[in-house]
Amino acid sequence: RFDESAVASRKGSLAPSPPPSVKGIGKKVAKPDYSEQKIVVAMVGLPARGKSYLSNKLMIYLRWLEYDVKVFNVGQLRRTKARQRAQQLGIKENHTADFFSHSNEKATQSRDSLAEESLEMLIRWLKEGGGNVGIHDATNSTKSRRAKIEARLAKEKGMTLIFLESLCDDPATIAANVELKVSQGDPDYKDMSPDDARKDFLRRISEYEKVYETITEPHLSYLRIKNVGEEVTMSRINGYLSSRIAFYLMNLHIRPRSIFFSRHGESQYNVEGKIGGDSLLSPRGMQYAKALPALITDNIGEKPLTVWTSTLKRTIQTAQYLPYTKLTWKSLDELDAGVCDGMTYEEIEQAYPDDSANRDEDKFNYRYRGGESYRDVVVRMEPVIMELERQENILIIGHQAILRCLYAYFHHLPQADLPYIKIPLHTVIKLTPKAYGCDEERYTLPINAVDTHRPKPKAAKAPEVHSTTQRKYYVEEDNEMKPSV
Ligand code: ATP
Ligand code: F6P
Repeated sequence: RFDESAVASRKGSLAPSPPPSVKGIGKKVAKPDYSEQKIVVAMVGLPARGKSYLSNKLMIYLRWLEYDVKVFNVGQLRRTKARQRAQQLGIKENHTADFFSHSNEKATQSRDSLAEESLEMLIRWLKEGGGNVGIHDATNSTKSRRAKIEARLAKEKGMTLIFLESLCDDPATIAANVELKVSQGDPDYKDMSPDDARKDFLRRISEYEKVYETITEPHLSYLRIKNVGEEVTMSRINGYLSSRIAFYLMNLHIRPRSIFFSRHGESQYNVEGKIGGDSLLSPRGMQYAKALPALITDNIGEKPLTVWTSTLKRTIQTAQYLPYTKLTWKSLDELDAGVCDGMTYEEIEQAYPDDSANRDEDKFNYRYRGGESYRDVVVRMEPVIMELERQENILIIGHQAILRCLYAYFHHLPQADLPYIKIPLHTVIKLTPKAYGCDEERYTLPINAVDTHRPKPKAAKAPEVHSTTQRKYYVEEDNEMKPSV
């Protein structure tokens, strides 16, 4: 049964009466100034230990929080150079395990200099390109290689160096990672059969194993993740951003799971075209609440699931028939529209014409008087994201603006598009995180509801999402596209 006493009233926190509309009060919130933050994260690990995966996850997370982050992948640099050389000399590119043998002196030199070149690009980008976090995605698997990185960064002022080691001795995880490499058409193996590719890649791993040295240097700052978080070692990690990076990485897991998003059923305010508030569901919204359990149960089967709602009545009411553990999060409450709470968009336009125009001009940054902007909501969502990364199957019954922010994180969508993402009522969005992106399915129940999506004025297109899509993210580096997480 829906328990009204469990619902906190938000009205008290709102500004008492609307201030006059003042031209120029954009309520536009500037991007935080992170220019002093300069961190180098140097990856450490054998091939197929998830270094690129972790690099890209970290990049997506920190970019979502508006840090300037870039991954410098030494493998991509190697391929670009090899391609150029092969074209110049009219020879075939060679990426076989011979190139990774430490008894092959010429190749070892060449690999060292590629790693150095990539580090130089990273440092230049931090210094001149305004970057905050540069991720050096290489194996950095020996003490001497790490000492070189350390010595080079000691010449730079104000740069913090953290090593991130991924250790894994779980045969199943390694085998799955190798298979992924072979089956996803890794560019190193584009001209090889899957069988030859597998053999060669295993040989490459064993070449690295011969000289691999786990981090034991006591003076280094490092985070070591063993078997995807089974054991985590942290040494000399200080400072806000470094600790945050470490905390995020130690919460990641790769167990298969699904994340479901649904807005609450249609509310009375939705029917009246009003925003915000704490109204109950409309009769059609109630129908949705009743139909939801069958859809979810059909989908998830016997697997455990936890339902998260906001503290607002419409989400708690929508979740009421779901036979799963439920948690209520204040952080999941809808974007606070401040003095505009409870008004229709037309009323807002009349009462605050300039604000309305400012919002249309830059919806992500616009902050309602006495309320929030989308940017504020993104910051508010950080603990939710962290917990989502830790958890397995989760269904969030949320609100339009909140789900847009969470959805943008999982699909790595740009800020400008975020406030226009289509999250319709009476629709369940199922996200399944994969190594290279996130699969998506949408299920719309045949229960009519109003459309609360306001398109971007003057035509700008909302990002298209099809009923079943597989989105893959790509990191562009040196003319080559590498699948990332
Ligand atoms: P290479 O050095 O050959 O480029 P890599 O270490 O960068 O290899 P990835 O390409 O990132 O390896 O491997 C991707 C796979 O790693 C994904 O299938 C992902 O599920 C898995 N993975 C993610 N995190 C970890 C981890 N901490 N340990 C082991 N595997 C992981
Ligand atoms: O209209 C429903 C709603 O959840 C409002 O409560 C909220 O203010 C709005 O959507 C957020 O959407 P937009 O940012 O497009 O106004």
